[in-house]
Amino acid sequence: MNKTLVVYYSVSGNTKQIAELIQKETNADIFRLETEKTYPHDMEELSALGQKEVNAGYQPALKALPNVEPYARIVIGTPTWWYKMAPAVLTFFNHANLQGKEVVLFSTNAGWAGTVIKDMKAASTGATILADKEILFDSAGGNELQTPLSEIQSWISSWK
Ligand SMILES: Cc1cc2nc3c(=O)[nH]c(=O)nc-3n(C[C@H](O)[C@H](O)[C@H](O)COP(=O)(O)O)c2cc1C
Repeated sequence: MNKTLVVYYSVSGNTKQIAELIQKETNADIFRLETEKTYPHDMEELSALGQKEVNAGYQPALKALPNVEPYARIVIGTPTWWYKMAPAVLTFFNHANLQGKEVVLFSTNAGWAGTVIKDMKAASTGATILADKEILFDSAGGNELQTPLSEIQSWISSWK
């Protein structure tokens, strides 16, 4: 059993890319959060719905929740949605017992990082925050990584 679990949510693949990098570098297990409902593929529709959900503090039902119990350390990654964590990750935080865990937090964003890390820290009840990082992708909401890979790798090395 690995002692680290990487939990992430990703729509267009950016957060997935970083989660998989962390998984490889730390030899962790990995769990992708998936909502029961399907979000619109159209970016404008997704953006408008996302705004509504974030503002309402909506927590979409998830297909499954990871069992965090056996792991000492949980890495949690989310895209930034309207300056906050994605709704699916809010659902995770409100169901997972992180008491006594070491937690590593990261967000991906397109230049407006908002309060995601601060909010995730506040949601990590009873956990020790080991490290956190905001990771920048391109400002058009695309898949081009802007934060240097070497910077991300040395961040991982600093806590792994
Ligand atoms: C609904 C929605 C809202 C977004 N809001 C923000 C935002 O407030 N700030 C920001 O920098 N990027 C925002 N973005 C861009 C994403 O955070 C960014 O592209 C992220 O890396 C996407 O991650 P993913 O590919 O794992 O889904 C938003 C994207 C979506 C779909």
